[in-house]
Amino acid sequence: MTLANRPTVLVARAVFPEVLDKLRQHFELKTNPTDEDWSASELAANLQGCAGALTTGSQRIDDNLLAACPQLKVVANMAVGYNNFDLSAMVRHGVVGTNTPDVLTETTADFGFALVLATARRLTESEHFLRAGQWKRWAYDLFAGSEVHGSTLGILGMGRIGQGIARRGAHGFGMRVIYHNRSRLDAATEAECKAEYVSKADLLARADHLVLVLPYTPANHHTIGAAELKQMKPTANLINIARGGIVDDAALAQALRERQIAGAGLDVFEGEPAVHPDLLTLDNVVLTPHIASATVGTRKAMAHLAADNLIAFFTQGQALTRVV
Ligand code: 8YV
Repeated sequence: MTLANRPTVLVARAVFPEVLDKLRQHFELKTNPTDEDWSASELAANLQGCAGALTTGSQRIDDNLLAACPQLKVVANMAVGYNNFDLSAMVRHGVVGTNTPDVLTETTADFGFALVLATARRLTESEHFLRAGQWKRWAYDLFAGSEVHGSTLGILGMGRIGQGIARRGAHGFGMRVIYHNRSRLDAATEAECKAEYVSKADLLARADHLVLVLPYTPANHHTIGAAELKQMKPTANLINIARGGIVDDAALAQALRERQIAGAGLDVFEGEPAVHPDLLTLDNVVLTPHIASATVGTRKAMAHLAADNLIAFFTQGQALTRVV
């Protein structure tokens, strides 16, 4: 590439300045100075003339957008999940898509476990009580929660992050680990995670802490709804660090209100950043704003990998972590 024929790349949301500097060595850059989430038509307008884009999970790459942006060749998502990509539309338009696997696995597994602990031990509920000046004396049952060590950890979706959570539970907290997944893990990985493969029905019935780590696909929409919540133990907690839409949030709010299950820890929501208003009124839920991968080190690694995908695509003709 000479200076004259450098491709133009759009960076759709704000990102670390060092990553912009790296991209500027190879590309003409367009950025989003206000860091607003653009509408579909604003995104299409900003993509005019761009051969590449660095996106986050909130920019939808679909048929309409691709038809409006015929120069686009590659979209690098700064996320391991890529349900914002319409894969068949990208294939039809010959547009390559990449994600950021591996670099966020352990950090995200740490956060999944943080939500298990925070939900079981009623961390935010008790802190709100303290901050509100309601703590007057010790009581034998003050914020008595549920046990984590020695309990049964259920994992739905046993990819890299699910396995990381399983290892933490089995080796760190002496938990029995059961999981359900589209396909069963090989015996060596099951042994390493000390994880037992069970049916979805068994997983729901036996888990004390059920962690959702499966990718969002239309087939996984409302994988956990009213019927599934009814199959869980009344003492169980549900943790969602996967994607909004995998859980029916309205049904979950009702189950939490009626104490059909004990609690929930949620980092992702249907229609986020909006949160179902009923969830906001409940004490037995820990709510965080989609931050499972948010450590400085991991977010930098994700941004660099997304940038490296664009650079590899344009300089070597092949992206590093291609998903379509
Ligand atoms: C991202 C995530 O921060 O990687 C994913 O799939 O959910 C998060 O780590 C988020 O999607 C923004 O791109």
